[in-house]
Amino acid sequence: MIRRVWINGVTLEQGDTAVLSVADRGLAYGDGLFETIRISGGRPLLFDAHMSRLGSSAAALGIVFDADAAATAFAGFLAGSDEAVAKIILTRGNSGRGYLPDPHAPSTLIFTLHPEMSWPPGHAAQGIVATVCQQPLGISPLLAGHKHLNRLEQVLLRRELATHEGASEALVLDVGGHVVEGVFSNVFWVQDGVLHSPRLDRAGVRGVMRQALQAEALRAGIPFEEGEYRLEQVLAADEVFFCNSIYGIWPVRQLAAIERMPGPITRRLQRYWDEMLGAS
Ligand SMILES: Cc1ncc(COP(=O)(O)O)c(C=O)c1O
Repeated sequence: MIRRVWINGVTLEQGDTAVLSVADRGLAYGDGLFETIRISGGRPLLFDAHMSRLGSSAAALGIVFDADAAATAFAGFLAGSDEAVAKIILTRGNSGRGYLPDPHAPSTLIFTLHPEMSWPPGHAAQGIVATVCQQPLGISPLLAGHKHLNRLEQVLLRRELATHEGASEALVLDVGGHVVEGVFSNVFWVQDGVLHSPRLDRAGVRGVMRQALQAEALRAGIPFEEGEYRLEQVLAADEVFFCNSIYGIWPVRQLAAIERMPGPITRRLQRYWDEMLGAS
């Protein structure tokens, strides 16, 4: 259900009926970017980080984007919303058939407002059961890190996860067997007091929550290492957790049949997220 939609300056309250040109390159090629933002107490959480990722990815892909105008329009769009999830979609705009874009075509900017999401409270409190996806992610250095609109890999992975009864997230590896992230999250783990997360320069999304937690770990004096890791290293970890900017942090209490308790570093970072929510 979409509560409200804004497309290039036009707002529609019955969001599901909004229309977009069939010539939009977001539809034809996934030629665009998006952000999914938690709205808490009417406030978009981690907003600067979302806008900065959108701006730097747009610059890297050569998509025209006016961040200041978008931020002003988005603030107006959110008026009256309290607890919700909002999306910002930016596409390269319309063009004829063929991959070559029209350099003069204006980009398309879309905002959508959705009902808030809810999960069992046990996910954050006791932790989740997680599995490991069999389907690998491709190596994609041109797109790695960006939250681009080509999400077919995640669609297939989400369908695979749905076949694992009781599992709420899954580790996803690349074709070389390196751990990348979750199906819809980034992943961290703790080994001997050191926080780890995979590098994201060949596959995966550089999550804003991951970035916020990395910064918080630095402030808290928790050592952090980013690198190339194999599944065995995650399975042997003292603590494992998934994160994204909508649900926050889910500790993993069972991964591929191995049980563990949410540990002190996970709990420390969960407090940071709770403070972020509570500040609204
Ligand atoms: C594939 C994938 N990786 C990572 C993330 C985490 O991103 P963020 O922290 O920006 O929400 C998401 C979020 O939806 C995702 O879909």
